[in-house]
Amino acid sequence: MSLADRFSVAGRTTIVTGASSGIGREIAEQFAADGADVVVCSREQEHVDPVAEAINDPDDGRGGGSDGGRCLAVECDVTDRDAVEALVEATVDEFGRIDALVNNAGASFTSPFEDISENGWKRVVDINLHGAYHCTQAAGERLAATDGVVVNVASVAGTRAARYMSHYGAAKAGLINLTETLAVEWASRGVRVNCVAPGYVATAGIEEQMGISADDVDRSDVDRRIGTTAEIADVTRFLVSDAASFVTGETVEAQGVPSAEDLPEMA
Ligand SMILES: NC(=O)c1ccc[n+]([C@@H]2O[C@H](COP(=O)([O-])OP(=O)(O)OC[C@H]3O[C@@H](n4cnc5c(N)ncnc54)[C@H](OP(=O)(O)O)[C@@H]3O)[C@@H](O)[C@H]2O)c1
Repeated sequence: MSLADRFSVAGRTTIVTGASSGIGREIAEQFAADGADVVVCSREQEHVDPVAEAINDPDDGRGGGSDGGRCLAVECDVTDRDAVEALVEATVDEFGRIDALVNNAGASFTSPFEDISENGWKRVVDINLHGAYHCTQAAGERLAATDGVVVNVASVAGTRAARYMSHYGAAKAGLINLTETLAVEWASRGVRVNCVAPGYVATAGIEEQMGISADDVDRSDVDRRIGTTAEIADVTRFLVSDAASFVTGETVEAQGVPSAEDLPEMA
């Protein structure tokens, strides 16, 4: 196998959850451009259809095109086990196999701990942690059949304190621990399980929540720049590729500057 092939995900049928926007969409586009068939899901079919259309359009310039992988869009709320089972079934019906699962779907809101309602707490944990539980368990047999790979998209909020993100941080910390434990349990099945933990990345979600935009990516007057979705997709591609064949149970923090304090005020 050539060096380039070791770093490639070509031919690896990959499910990317939460792929209608942001990091998930970028991962799907990168994987397809590299020759992987991808299945993209989100809660709304009309949100993921344009992603598949762009990837499947040879003239679009993004994603698969004529030399790349194909894309199937499936409506699936990752907190709904029946919908997740249907996602796995649709993937196998279309492509016959599952080589990788990227548990990327996530959502949050900022709030002091004392103001988080029980519903708000449960919702955040449900999407960010239970969603990965459902998808990974549902795809487990298929992943074991292909010596597959799971990549969980956590956050640096799961590795240290993040003010007003106690629900999200707790869920992402759970996801990181799940990664380590499952890597041990599934090593004998040939399935690698890793995690990428981004710092702040320029997406619509983070702009809405934190007021940080892509314009902040290149700012030099703060001590930590904002990441791009492509930089997180790069790490994900590496973790799925054979270049990471000896890497499992790990969490790769991608945050520009390690161990920095909270992001400086960007306003
Ligand atoms: N951006 C950052 O700075 C940052 C930093 C650290 C970690 N992360 C993590 O990276 C991941 C992607 O974040 P992002 O910034 O790219 O967010 P985003 O642009 O808001 O995308 C979130 C995606 O998740 C989908 N989604 C939400 N709830 C879902 C559910 N229950 N079932 C299925 N899909 C669902 C959304 O689609 P629909 O609305 O169409 O369902 C959307 O496609 C998340 O896990 C997030 O926690 C992001």
